[in-house]
Amino acid sequence: MTEAIRGTIFLEEGRVLEQSAFDAGQFVIRIEAPKCATHATPGSFAHVTCHETIPMRRPLSLMRADARAGWVEILYKVEGLGLHALSQAHPGDILSILGPIGRGFTVQAARPRSVLIGGGVGIPPVVFLAEHLLTRKDAPWEPLAFIGSEVPFPFRAQSARAPLAGIAAHVSASMPLLEDWGIASRLASRSGFAGCFNGFVTELAQGWLQTLAPEELQKVEIFACGPTPMLAAAARLARRYAVACQVCLEEYMACAVGGCAGCTVLVHTPAGPAMKRVCVDGPVFDAYTVFPATG
Ligand SMILES: Cc1cc2nc3c(=O)[nH]c(=O)nc-3n(C[C@H](O)[C@H](O)[C@H](O)COP(=O)(O)OP(=O)(O)OC[C@H]3O[C@@H](n4cnc5c(N)ncnc54)[C@H](O)[C@@H]3O)c2cc1C
Ligand code: FES
Repeated sequence: MTEAIRGTIFLEEGRVLEQSAFDAGQFVIRIEAPKCATHATPGSFAHVTCHETIPMRRPLSLMRADARAGWVEILYKVEGLGLHALSQAHPGDILSILGPIGRGFTVQAARPRSVLIGGGVGIPPVVFLAEHLLTRKDAPWEPLAFIGSEVPFPFRAQSARAPLAGIAAHVSASMPLLEDWGIASRLASRSGFAGCFNGFVTELAQGWLQTLAPEELQKVEIFACGPTPMLAAAARLARRYAVACQVCLEEYMACAVGGCAGCTVLVHTPAGPAMKRVCVDGPVFDAYTVFPATG
């Protein structure tokens, strides 16, 4: 069954195609949901019924969407009952999928050097953006990604094929999917994983940014998704190098379609402070409006 909700959000009975388990309660699930797959954009999410016995849906970012094959892929980490139930889903099971929801990342051709920063379960939107940029021909897009996690990464890290300016040679661990797409990446963790930068993912990104001349920095835009302290650090990094920055927020949600105002955040617009709904006004916002300069 497929039914249009508010014009661009669809309700579908999604069929689980496959599910893979990784360390630390992380899973990647692929779900057949053709409408969601066709309309998904990087940064958008789906509101997923995890099991018929769990009353509330859970908001989960879309990591990949194949419009032709009609599936979406989601990476999630079990926190409680809902995602635990989802982790028990098997191929062939049916899950109600409401999506895609939200305003995602917008890229500008004048800033083709996209710095993608993903932390923990904030990895999916930046992977989606990386894959999207591969399809765009309107600018010399040159994305690179910095990925951080304090639990084992939900993939087997591999050694990067090429060096990256400002990044020490021993910091060689990269994400295989991105490497396969020809997108440079490096991993950061304070958990001592081999080949990873020992520190915050934003410090890793700074290593690269600080090698750029002012005219190169004008072509940079940062796209970040992860825990709030990481997003605040990304905003500070952007401010320090005077580059554009968008952040993808995660907020507790009930309806996820703009009706309950349960997900509002304070945003500082040129017209003054405003409350915005993360589900439909976001989840992507200009970092400078969410994290204003302090002091
Ligand atoms: C736009 C958006 C995108 C997200 N994308 C991902 C993703 O790609 N992968 C991933 O692992 N997680 C993601 N999350 C967080 C994920 O929704 C929560 O971890 C999940 O709802 C927890 O459900 P649970 O039943 O396992 O945990 P419980 O703690 O049992 O959930 C209890 C209640 O709290 C809510 N809740 C708990 N934590 C959060 C949270 N951080 N944000 C919103 N609601 C929460 C649940 O919806 C539920 O109603 C996203 C959240 C948002 C808002
Ligand atoms: S969750 Fe209801 S308005 Fe956003």
